[in-house]
Formats: sequence, C-alpha cells, structure tokens
Amino acid sequence: MSTLKEKRRLVAGNWKMNLDLKAGCDLATEVVEQLGKSDFPVVFCAPAIHLHALSDIVKDASNVYSGAQDISSHESGAHTGEISGGQLKSVGCSYVLVGHSERRAFHGETGDLLAAKISQALANDLTPIYCFGETLDQRQADQEEEVVARQLHEGFAHLDAPAMKNVVLAYEPCWAIGTGITASPAQAQAIHKFVRSWLNERFGDSVANTTTILYGGSVKPGNANELFSQPDIDGGLIGGASLKPADFIAIVNA
Ligand code: 13P
Repeated sequence: MSTLKEKRRLVAGNWKMNLDLKAGCDLATEVVEQLGKSDFPVVFCAPAIHLHALSDIVKDASNVYSGAQDISSHESGAHTGEISGGQLKSVGCSYVLVGHSERRAFHGETGDLLAAKISQALANDLTPIYCFGETLDQRQADQEEEVVARQLHEGFAHLDAPAMKNVVLAYEPCWAIGTGITASPAQAQAIHKFVRSWLNERFGDSVANTTTILYGGSVKPGNANELFSQPDIDGGLIGGASLKPADFIAIVNA
C-alpha cells in the first residue's frame, strides 16, 4: 500500500528556451532509456517545437510525459503566436506550466490571465503545473506567506474541489531560480505546509492531502534527497539540472 506522499510524487524538467529539436529528442531518448520504468510521473516541459516529436519518444515509456511551458488563455482564433490547449493536446501533450516566475516577471502575466490559462488547460484535459513564489525583497520583508496566498487565490478562486484534483502546484522562490541558492529544506517545507493548509481551508482535506506540491529552484542531485524527504514536498520542478541526463535521472531517483 503506497502512502499519500508516495501517490503525490512527480518530477518535471523545465528545459526553458534551451535545446534545438535534435538535442531535445536526444536528451529525452537518453532519459527514457536509462530511467526504464518509473513508479510516478516524470515530465519534460519542453519548448513547443519539441512536443510533437516528444510524444513519440515518451509513448512507450511507462509514466513519462511531455508538457508545454505555456498555453494561450484563449480557446482559438486571431491570437498570432499563441498556442491553444486543444493544439497542445493534439500533439500528445499531457501537462503545461502556468505562471512560471519568468513569465510573470518578463511577460507581464497577471493573476486574471493565469486563471484563464488554468481554465484552458483543464478544459483540454491538460494538467496545469501552477508555479508561484516570492521574490527576494518579499522574503526579506517576511511577506512570503502573504504573496503565496495571493498567487494561489488568483490562480484558483474560480475552481471547485473536483477541478482542483487535476492541478499540480510548484513552489519556486524567485531568489532560488537559476542562482545556485536553494531554499533550505526547512524553508521550503514551511511554505509547502502553509500551501497545504491553504488548500485545506479553501477546498477541504481531500484536496489538501492529494495535491502534488513540487519544489523548484536550484535542485541538484546533491540536495534533492533532503528536499524531497520533507513531509510536504512531493517532488521537483527542475531547470538547469534537467538538461543533463545523468543529473536529471539522479534527481528522479532521489
Ligand atoms: P533552476 O533549477 O535552474 O534553478 O530552475 C528552476 C526553475 O525555474 C524550474 O522551473
């Protein structure tokens, strides 16, 4: 019998704007070959150009999926450059990142927009991985819980408990992303526990107990084990280290 925490496990790599088509396919092929069977979902969040080819690479692997890094807030139509949830689904995509801090900071993504993107993901049977987290200034001002609660409210105020069962969360403190500075296991656990109690208050204990909450921000093979053994940390959203097959596999195995 697996525990609730075991059932919540998931590791996703966020390739960001790295790797051309061949390099991405080579990386995914190597990870799939070395990983063999996974007991829990492993996701490649790749640039959109990779998704069609990736779905072929992951289709015979057990528990490996492709995910997008963004989704349009619109269903279809005159939105040049955007990619809809239906289009992502049509190339075999299963997950999609929503609200990554780089999109909030550099592409002006606001709470209303992100709520609409989450709706589009759910309407198209894609699992949104909703990213949130405070900046360094906000942490230094002891505002991390307030900021996280606001971001969760913005993303999910329009959903009910059954819809929440199809959502994955990813706490990514902005000051830990790509900086080599990881939140300490205790710092990360404290926010994850806070998020679970927020879910409990809003949606009840079933949603709180079953929602996967990932940690992201400078996760490496050397620190993954200690982070993932915290009671409310269910896995990771991995940036830089997901580009190196050996590192990514070591993190999955942690
Ligand atoms: P790094 O693992 O490179 O810090 O990136 C984290 C991240 O932004 C994943 O979405």
